[in-house]
Amino acid sequence: MIEEKLIKVPIEVLMPGRNRKISVYLFIQGKPVLYKKKNIPLEEEKLKRLKDNHISHVFIKKKELSLFVTDLEEEIEELLRREANLKTLKEILSRLEKVSEFLFAFPEKEHFEHTEKISGRISQYIEENPHISYIVAFAIKKDFKTAVHVTNVYILCSGFAYHLGLRDEKLEKLMAGSFFHDIGKVKVPDEILKKPERLTPEEYEILKKHTFWGYEILQAYRFDDYAGIAYEHHEFLDGTGYPRKIRGSEISWEPQVVQICDIYEALTGIRPYRKSLEPFSALTTMRDEFAVKGKIDRNLFVEFVLFLYRHKI
Ligand SMILES: [Fe+2]
Ligand SMILES: [Fe+2]
Repeated sequence: MIEEKLIKVPIEVLMPGRNRKISVYLFIQGKPVLYKKKNIPLEEEKLKRLKDNHISHVFIKKKELSLFVTDLEEEIEELLRREANLKTLKEILSRLEKVSEFLFAFPEKEHFEHTEKISGRISQYIEENPHISYIVAFAIKKDFKTAVHVTNVYILCSGFAYHLGLRDEKLEKLMAGSFFHDIGKVKVPDEILKKPERLTPEEYEILKKHTFWGYEILQAYRFDDYAGIAYEHHEFLDGTGYPRKIRGSEISWEPQVVQICDIYEALTGIRPYRKSLEPFSALTTMRDEFAVKGKIDRNLFVEFVLFLYRHKI
């Protein structure tokens, strides 16, 4: 029975013009129907038709699942060979958004390893093309989706970490860690994660658990280097953060770097319940609400401003 070998995939991970190696099925009246044959790319028109019909998931063969990531890996690899400019960077970012969607849909160890590999290649690219690290802020997209937030934070972190002087393995580690920083959100129910209104205090308490859940997942996969970033990226130096309310030097440096990019992205990105801020206002807010109040490291914040204004955002 083919039904038993099929797995549900959100359509956000599909790529127009790609997914050549995968057969795509739909369930019509309880029966699987082949929507796209193997060895032909998924036409843009076909993908659009799914969206127009409000179809949120398709089905693929379980054994073909990892082909999604390898496909993305190949595509990103191809992009990394192109001229390093804003256009290429934006394209890389849109593929990374898919990687993030995929990871959230299937948070399995093997997929984390693929993501780590992809991120490693991008960190090399940043080192080979340092100018790109100063235009990353121009590439970020404004959207409410978690996958967009994660890729935005990742790309901002890549530039910021390079600006701070991180190279080789240290750069690689921080970049991959920033990609996984919110992975604990896989355990947060969709009605909270995608809620367009402001969360109730009870819902907010559940959302806050993503720090610990992320830590747990990454620890279970033996990604200890990244687990700390997931755990501590919402702690504040004055002890008012979460989940453990640790303070000062108890908080590692890496999560603090990710946190600055995270706050900036949250303030400048679209949130349905409030207006998104322009870069200058976001930085003013960060200064007044976080740096001056001793929640984030002042020097690190100053460096972040210098990093962004190298190329005047
Ligand atoms: Fe977070
Ligand atoms: Fe975040």
